[in-house]
Amino acid sequence: MRTARFTLDPAFQVGPVRRRTFGSFVEHLGRCVYTGIHDPQHPSADEDGFREDVIALTRELGVSTVRYPGGNFVSGYRWEDGVGPQEDRPTRLDLAWHSSDPNTVGVDEFMRWAHKAGVEPMMAVNLGTRGVQEALDLLEYCNVPSGSHFSDYRVANGATDPHRITMWCLGNEMDGPWQIGHKTPYEYGRLAAETARAMRLIDPDLELVVCGSSSSDMPTFGEWERIVLTETYEHVDYISAHAYYWEEDDDLASFLASAVNMDAFIEDVTATADQVRAAGRHSKRINISFDEWNVWYQKRAESKPPTGDDWPVAPVLLEDRYTVADAVVVGSLLISLLRHTDRVHAASLAQLVNVIAPIMTEPGGRIWKQTIFHPFAQASNLAKGVVLRPVISAPTYDTARFGEVPVVDGVATYDEESGEITVFAVNRSETEVQTLEIDVRNGATRLIEATSYSHDDPRWTATADDDTTVVPRVNDTATTTGRILSLELPPVSWNVVRLGRAEA
Ligand code: AHR
Repeated sequence: MRTARFTLDPAFQVGPVRRRTFGSFVEHLGRCVYTGIHDPQHPSADEDGFREDVIALTRELGVSTVRYPGGNFVSGYRWEDGVGPQEDRPTRLDLAWHSSDPNTVGVDEFMRWAHKAGVEPMMAVNLGTRGVQEALDLLEYCNVPSGSHFSDYRVANGATDPHRITMWCLGNEMDGPWQIGHKTPYEYGRLAAETARAMRLIDPDLELVVCGSSSSDMPTFGEWERIVLTETYEHVDYISAHAYYWEEDDDLASFLASAVNMDAFIEDVTATADQVRAAGRHSKRINISFDEWNVWYQKRAESKPPTGDDWPVAPVLLEDRYTVADAVVVGSLLISLLRHTDRVHAASLAQLVNVIAPIMTEPGGRIWKQTIFHPFAQASNLAKGVVLRPVISAPTYDTARFGEVPVVDGVATYDEESGEITVFAVNRSETEVQTLEIDVRNGATRLIEATSYSHDDPRWTATADDDTTVVPRVNDTATTTGRILSLELPPVSWNVVRLGRAEA
């Protein structure tokens, strides 16, 4: 057994725990909307056709913001198709996912769902096939109280109060050749700047996200950010980052270290944004909206859209089934997002239901939690106050993709009010239990609870029949000596340790 040590001090603060770090994403893709959040035939469907069991699990997951309606979908979307009387709504071809969309759910329905689920909406505008005017029309429809063409149209459609949406994405992954209306960084940067400038004429308090690269593997990564931010700097608040990870070639060791890539990605985007800031003599800083991240087995058949004359409504697409190891990676990615809370100001787990998702549904039937549900729910519900940067000393292991990587990684949060410190840690070893020593410098050594999420078979997968064999369980190995708390982390595990002030 080997030993890792986290030294924690409430003075080692990175920044606040941001609720928006725990966002998710609902795209018109596969069964995320239709038979996912919306399924009028389901026994739990409410008066709007929304599954109440999905709403309940969304709340349990602790989701803060939800990005909508895409994703690649948004780059061909006409928002007007999804408002007004249902019988007048057209069915359209969705070219991004080779599907048909009956437009049963649109902006007003989504906003009703967001309200019921208690989440903040994050709306994306189409800058693929559309431009400044259509973005303004949608903003007018959503945020202007009344007295203009589109605001009165919303009121006539039953939404008396404005939706008051603060966060807006200026398109999606516009660097990707797969994107409908894909652009060069100069074309996109100019369009995004003009769209942002005009949107602020309607509502100066918007928070606007400009598209960064769709992954750090894009050949244009870095240059894209530099050019787009040079064009848009004064008009936007955030640049997006997207990253998906999957286990390649049975190389579990490298896969478990995926957060090394996310850390570097965040730091590279931050450096580029700050370089543009310096070059342009700007005073404000641009922060990151990491608005798509997850494990996604992109090469599997589930990710192949229909072809030819087949344009189905809500096909089974991107329905990855996650393992315990996938959940440990998701936990480690949450650790990466949290430790960069100074510059990552929002993030969205892609996606929420059925499509690379923590929540799965059967059409008209059962609902169940995937493995990745657990680390997200624990982090979202237990991270409070400020993020602390632990000084980590840990043994390393060798990976084919990332070289030497610490076996144990983690982060902590500190809630000044209650005095509680919560440590989130992963053990990436496939075979060895690791001892974690937590050295807390403020005397918060009283163990409130320690849990571990692991299984003898790291490739165990939850199903509709069994989503409870592997859940976070109490870890009863903790012992305290002086101010050091030690506990054993099982191989391939996600762990949460809650510490309180010693009782007087
Ligand atoms: O989340 C699935 C897809 O991944 C999104 O539509 C797109 O933005 C990204 O490439």
